[in-house]
Amino acid sequence: MAHAGIIGIGSYLPEKVLTNQDLEEIVETSDEWIRTRTGMRERHIAAPDQSASDLAFIAAQAALETAGIAADQLDAVVLATVCPDYLFPSTACVLQDKLGAKKAGAFDLSAGCAGFASALSVADAYIKSGMMENILVVGVEVLSRVTNWEDRNTCVLFGDGAGAAVVSAVDEEGLLADFIKADGSGGPFLIQPAGGSANPATHETVDKKMHYVHMSGQDVFKSAVRAMVEGARAVLEQAGFQSEDIDLLVPHQANIRIIEAVRKRLDVPPERAFVNIERQANTSAATIPICLDEAYRSGRLNRGDLVCTTTFGAGFAWAANLLRWII
Ligand SMILES: CC(C)(COP(=O)(O)OP(=O)(O)OC[C@H]1O[C@@H](n2cnc3c(N)ncnc32)[C@H](O)[C@@H]1OP(=O)(O)O)[C@@H](O)C(=O)NCCC(=O)NCCS
Repeated sequence: MAHAGIIGIGSYLPEKVLTNQDLEEIVETSDEWIRTRTGMRERHIAAPDQSASDLAFIAAQAALETAGIAADQLDAVVLATVCPDYLFPSTACVLQDKLGAKKAGAFDLSAGCAGFASALSVADAYIKSGMMENILVVGVEVLSRVTNWEDRNTCVLFGDGAGAAVVSAVDEEGLLADFIKADGSGGPFLIQPAGGSANPATHETVDKKMHYVHMSGQDVFKSAVRAMVEGARAVLEQAGFQSEDIDLLVPHQANIRIIEAVRKRLDVPPERAFVNIERQANTSAATIPICLDEAYRSGRLNRGDLVCTTTFGAGFAWAANLLRWII
C-alpha cells in the first residue's frame, strides 16, 4: 500500500484585525469576559471583496510552493468549509479554476469545525488506495459573513482564515491514522437555519436572522470535550501509540477551556499542545491547517514529530488524525 503524507502547508489570514476592545463598541461585552471565558483577544476579518475562494487561493499557493509542485500536478481539490462562495458550484471548483489545476477533480466537504480533519482522511484514503498521487486539502471560512453582529453569544467567537495542505503519495509513513464520527441529534445546537432547502431564503427568514450562526454554547462545550478526547484516543490506538508519544497536539481552537480540558484528559503537557486561539479565535475548518502552518513556520513542528489533530463541530461531527511530520 502507498504511504500518504503532508508535503506542503500554507495559510492565509486577512489583514483586518478585530480586537476584543473593538467588540466592546459593537455589543455589550468586555475584553475581560471574552478573555477569561474563551481565551480570545483578537480575530481576523475578511475584506468585503474577499470570498472563501480568495482566502483559499492564497493559502493553496503557499502550500503548493512548500510542496514544490505545480497546480496542474494535482489530482483533486478537497475543500472543507461552511462558508462557501455559493451553495453551488462548490468553492473547490472555483479554487480549481483560479489555481489552474487542470487535471484535478474538485468537491466541497461540510463537517463544520471537523472539516479539515475529515478532508484529510479522504485524501489519505484516496492516496493509500493508489487512486491518486497529489491532493490539495483546504480548510477555509469567512464566518464573519454568517455572524449576527448583534448577538454577543456568538459574534465574539469566530474569525476568518484559510489553510491548505498538499497530501501526496510518499515513500515514508506520513498519515498514520484517521477517525471520523457523527451524532446528528446535536444538529440544532449549532446551526445556520436558513438558506438551504429546509428553510429557503425568504423575507421572513432574513427578518428573523435565520441566515446567521445559532448556537447553544454550553451544549456544544460539553460534547466537544468528550468527542475530541475520543478522537485523539482512537487514532493513537489505531496506530499503536500512547498520548505520551505525541510531540504536538493540535486541537481545534474553539475555547481555551475546551483545549485545556482535552489536553489534561489526554495527559499532554502544555508545551506539547499548540494554541493560537488568542490571535485567531475559532476559524472552524481553517483552524487545523492554520495551526499546522504556524507551528511549522515557527519551528514548533519539526521533521519526524508525531502530530495528533482532534476536532469537533457542527453536525455534531468530530474527526482526528495522527501523522508523522515529514516536511
Ligand atoms: C460560548 C461560550 C464561550 C459561553 O461560555 P459559558 O461559560 O458557557 O457562558 P454562558 O453561555 O453560560 O453565559 C454566561 C453569561 O454570559 C453572558 N454572555 C454570553 N456572551 C457574552 C459576551 N460576549 N460578553 C458578555 N457576556 C456574555 C450570557 O448572556 C450569560 O449571561 P446570563 O448568565 O446573565 O444569562 C462557551 O459555552 C463555549 O465556548 N461553547 C462552545 C462553543 C463552540 O465551541 N462553538 C463552536 C463549535 S466548534
